[in-house]
Amino acid sequence: MDSFYIVGGNQLNGEVVIGCAKNSILPILAACILVQDDVYLENVPKYSDVIAMTKILSHLGAKIEWKGDDLLLNCKNICLCDVPDELACVVRSSIFTLGPISARLGKAKVAYPGGCDIGIRPIDIHLSGLRHFGCKIIEKNGYIYSDASKLKCADFMLPFASVGATENIMMLASLTDGESRIYNPAKEPEIVDLACFLNACGADISGQGGNVIAINGVKKLHGTKYKAISDRIEAGTFMIATAMCGGEVILKNADINHNQSLICKLRKTTCQIEGDSDNIIVKSHNRPLSFGEVETEIYPGFPTDLQAPICSLASICDGYSIIIENLFESRFKHVGELLKMGCDIRIKNGVAFIRGKEKIFGASVSATDLRGGASLVLAGLVADGYTTVDNIKYIDRGYYNFEDKLSSLGANIKRIKCEKKVDNC
Ligand code: EPZ
Repeated sequence: MDSFYIVGGNQLNGEVVIGCAKNSILPILAACILVQDDVYLENVPKYSDVIAMTKILSHLGAKIEWKGDDLLLNCKNICLCDVPDELACVVRSSIFTLGPISARLGKAKVAYPGGCDIGIRPIDIHLSGLRHFGCKIIEKNGYIYSDASKLKCADFMLPFASVGATENIMMLASLTDGESRIYNPAKEPEIVDLACFLNACGADISGQGGNVIAINGVKKLHGTKYKAISDRIEAGTFMIATAMCGGEVILKNADINHNQSLICKLRKTTCQIEGDSDNIIVKSHNRPLSFGEVETEIYPGFPTDLQAPICSLASICDGYSIIIENLFESRFKHVGELLKMGCDIRIKNGVAFIRGKEKIFGASVSATDLRGGASLVLAGLVADGYTTVDNIKYIDRGYYNFEDKLSSLGANIKRIKCEKKVDNC
């Protein structure tokens, strides 16, 4: 498997363009199953999770064509309703196809999803939501079977504001006759983006981003041309990298409104941050002070996807920091790797206690999941000496051209391709 070779100590200066949001594009790809016309998606980064989702759509019978960075899809001739294990197990977002296939074809057979190993990640809210709309759901032999021949509009209260479950239910309801409501939905910008995409295809959805999403089901959805929002987690990762390395970085195609919880923490470290809905400017000229405490929450709270990257920042801040992970029960796997670099972190009951060090040291470390892998790269950028990060296939799931973007800002990082023949890759 490929790895990154990083020599620490360089500042980051210049401009970088943030890509479109992975966690928008993945549900939007699933939503294309509902549409019987051409859908043209602009600026789609080739995240490996996106490639995996296009393979699922192709399996179902969709026509997929890359046009440079744009993606042309047509799901008119979708005829299969099953997503086999070998395709579903690659990504968490495969479960997002359950609602759309059920609504479009009247039945579905989808294997359990995969995704980063950051917790148990059940799908009970997805299933109870679809059942509420009349889907007869049976779980058997690792598959979810859905009979959606008798769908009915409904009001559904999520017991927890699950992002994926909100998306699955919203997609099913958009083609379910009558008026439905989703109470306690997730409010992430990616939820709003999916609703905007569906409305661009002729759906009738309102209230997205608020406490109640209202959906008037329509008979059919038409094609559209669409560009997903900017990836706030990639933008946040680059903001944290700049705070750690020092320098002045302009993030193009980044919306400052989507990262307010992170920005208020970074400003506490003496980082200067300003911007608007298109660009963010980050300036850092001193060793960052500790931001104090971070607790991951549903949006607009501090995003769990930036918990690992901010652990790396805390590891070199001047002072003590506390990081509480509330969303996923196994999302501190990167800490074991950071300890190899001389970081001073203790974990107790889902809380990381971190004493910032003036110096950490390069080491050979391994990515354990997508955002944990990114946190190791950030630590390598400031460590004394060189760091190798293995298993970067995890990083490729959600960062596209990561090393090229960092290099363009002055980082000393390169990808080491693993020759197929060597066994120990
Ligand atoms: C989405 O995952 C994102 N993935 C995750 O990003 C992100 O961390 C997460 O939302 C939270 O923001 C995609 O959008 C593809 P959830 P999802 O359902 O939908 C529990 C990344 O790094 N839960 O909001 O799986 C669950 O166990 C990835 O880009 C249930 O109990 O997240 C967790 O504790 C990682 N039952 C909490 O809710 C369910 O049916 C949040 O999960 C569903 C979820």
